[in-house]
Amino acid sequence: HRHLLGIKGLLPSDIETLLDRADAAVSLSRQSEKKRSVLRGRTQINLFFEASTRTQSSFELAGKRLGADVMNMSVASSSTKKGETLLDTATTLNAMRPDILVIRHSAAGAAALLAQKVGCSVVNAGDGAHEHPTQALLDALTIRRAKGAIAGLTVAICGDVLHSRVARSNIILLNALGARVRVIAPSTLMPSGVSQMSVEPFTSMEEGLKGADVVMMLRLQRERMSGSYVPSVREYFRFFGLDSERLKLAKEDALVMHPGPMNRGVEIASDVADGPQSVIQEQVEMGVAVRMAVLEALLDPRQAGETA
Ligand code: CP
Repeated sequence: HRHLLGIKGLLPSDIETLLDRADAAVSLSRQSEKKRSVLRGRTQINLFFEASTRTQSSFELAGKRLGADVMNMSVASSSTKKGETLLDTATTLNAMRPDILVIRHSAAGAAALLAQKVGCSVVNAGDGAHEHPTQALLDALTIRRAKGAIAGLTVAICGDVLHSRVARSNIILLNALGARVRVIAPSTLMPSGVSQMSVEPFTSMEEGLKGADVVMMLRLQRERMSGSYVPSVREYFRFFGLDSERLKLAKEDALVMHPGPMNRGVEIASDVADGPQSVIQEQVEMGVAVRMAVLEALLDPRQAGETA
């Protein structure tokens, strides 16, 4: 079975093929008749151990638009609450013979572990601070559609890089497609291994935003911070928030992105989030298309020759 566990390991040609396929899915989703039947008879289970608005709903819509039967496992009311382990839960669901499991979990490596234990395809919908591959793909599709290409662009990824699986997947993907990647973070939220990450690090928004083509903001993930350093919201916004004045340092036509959920007034000002340079709603639309492309690449037997 084929899996999508991370951007790491994908070839640039794999990524481009998925983006091309997702482009076609955007057109389909804009028609009044959105449904196809390529995945008719296939069963998709979404297993989300962490909260989600965008990823879970778009995986559900993506599966349904391709004709699959989609089941959302309600973890909050499942037997994990009675002490069942992740592996026992997954093995139990696997016995119901799904074709694909989409999993989000707080532990890095959870999706890869499952992939070794179940007899179906597995898609990583976010594992701890490790990877969120479909987010990076939808971000790349959004950028490619707005700018024409990714190679040669300067992308500034700003904020809580340390805790961000979105940042990690984007850094790998953007480098693979030839972008110049900067990360901007307070030193306390900069990963210690940043020098091995093929990025240019900055601890000042004023320095790092200069001349950027894309400004990608990250949510301050206070739920992943344990005591040592939790910045105050006011202090954080003052030094690392994106407001309209700071945005002027980037290129005039720079895109403003945020994977969501966003905290207005913490990492991004409302007028910037809703402003003319923001492509945050396009990102959400591309999310459904990218997930359709991934499901089809993994499950449609006609795509068997391709990697994903
Ligand atoms: N961007 C993202 O993963 O959003 P959700 O947590 O709402 O799925």
